[in-house]
Amino acid sequence: MKKVYLETFGCQMNVSDSERVATRLAADGFEITPDEAAADVVLLNTCSVREKAEHKLFTRIGQVGKAAADRGDKKPLLGVLGCVAQLEGETLFGKTPAIDFVLGTRAVGRVSEAIDKAFGGANQFADLGEREAAYDWSVADAQRHSPYIAFVPIIEGCNKFCTYCIVPFSRGREKSLPATEIVQHVLRLRREGIREVHLIGQNVNSYRPKTDDGLENQPGATPFSKLLRAVAATGIERVKFTTSFPRDFHPDIIEAINEHENLCNWVHLPVQSGSSRILKLMRRGHTVENYLERIERIKASPRRIALTTDIIVGFPGETEADFQATLDLAEYCQFNSAYIFKYSPRPGTPAFEMPDDVSAAEKTERFLRLDNLIRFHQQKVFRAYINQTVEVLAEKISEKHSNQISGHTSCQMVVNFEGAADLLGKIVKVRILESKANTLYGKIC
Ligand code: SAH
Ligand code: SF4
Ligand code: F3S
Repeated sequence: MKKVYLETFGCQMNVSDSERVATRLAADGFEITPDEAAADVVLLNTCSVREKAEHKLFTRIGQVGKAAADRGDKKPLLGVLGCVAQLEGETLFGKTPAIDFVLGTRAVGRVSEAIDKAFGGANQFADLGEREAAYDWSVADAQRHSPYIAFVPIIEGCNKFCTYCIVPFSRGREKSLPATEIVQHVLRLRREGIREVHLIGQNVNSYRPKTDDGLENQPGATPFSKLLRAVAATGIERVKFTTSFPRDFHPDIIEAINEHENLCNWVHLPVQSGSSRILKLMRRGHTVENYLERIERIKASPRRIALTTDIIVGFPGETEADFQATLDLAEYCQFNSAYIFKYSPRPGTPAFEMPDDVSAAEKTERFLRLDNLIRFHQQKVFRAYINQTVEVLAEKISEKHSNQISGHTSCQMVVNFEGAADLLGKIVKVRILESKANTLYGKIC
């Protein structure tokens, strides 16, 4: 049996693709190994969102080759998958001779064929084609990132073309999966014992299937809120969804959350900047005022919905005043957490043509100032949970303390508490006692 080692970079779309790649490979007679040194094939599922992510790929390729040479082994077969693969295609072969084949973002269903072809003697070939008509979106239990949580793709690709972003180029145009298929998928997962599903997509709330099938009887103004209700009606215990695009975040989404307890109280709504001038240059399709209107509606929900976001610092032309506006917005919104990124110019995007005029030192300084502010408010948000009881899905034994269990709340906060393995997979009530950097600590009640 040939052994395959699979490593994943980037977002949950890539994690989800990797789960399906591993499922396909196992079904086709390959063994998935966590041990790189034992592998006949190394697959790297790559991300291209920032320059650093791409450098990582070449560093990893070098390490794989060196580790094999140090062991006196032949270099394993090396396949590059994912966003860098899609964007660079055959040009990757010119950058390093170590790569045997390249599979684009929608070609991953043909991974077994590619490996067989490479073992058969073909080398340096690329498949950047579309998904096969009968593409199987399901994942075998053994290949899931968690035994209790399942990613369910509902839309892939992106039509938004924010000026800084490579994703529309690496993932292609938006394509929504049929609602009936999604609902069937969730029903199956529920029967198999999955407790929580994450509906995933670059912009889940831009969900727009070709037909209304499966959504006809749901109230709501947009297909996404109808889909949320249809998925909630499956009775699965928890439904989370990421990422939401602010412009398309309509009030019916909050109405659906208010009416269905199993729709979790967490919204990830990337704002990117607190300056409407910069948002316009980013072509985000929302202003600060639009964004705050959405925040008001979210905060007005009786469900106490947690908010998280993404922010880019140092976009071309970002002045100290623009950045100050981002600090003000972060102060106002009181995010539960935020991913902050330093702007990274991506060739082929419109922003690449703009002068990258915020110095590296200034980007770092802004990153740290914003990070401090967000952490300060995060601690306030976290402390407000002390002495409150929350429901936590017991997901795994804590890496640091073997007598502790770690899991997430409905609002996606990490909670650790004392407990034994028999609790795993259960949703338990935990009283919060203490708040640390990114984690809450509590006691089962
Ligand atoms: N579809 C999601 C985000 C996908 S990419 C959305 O619209 O929000 C994830 C995050 O990476 C983005 O939210 C953005 O903050 C960041 N990002 C994307 N391109 C970037 C770039 N060129 N430089 C720095 N950060 C970037
Ligand atoms: Fe990128 Fe914008 Fe699409 Fe998000 S919405 S993936 S940031 S282009
Ligand atoms: Fe990266 Fe591709 Fe996701 S560029 S963030 S892995 S869609």
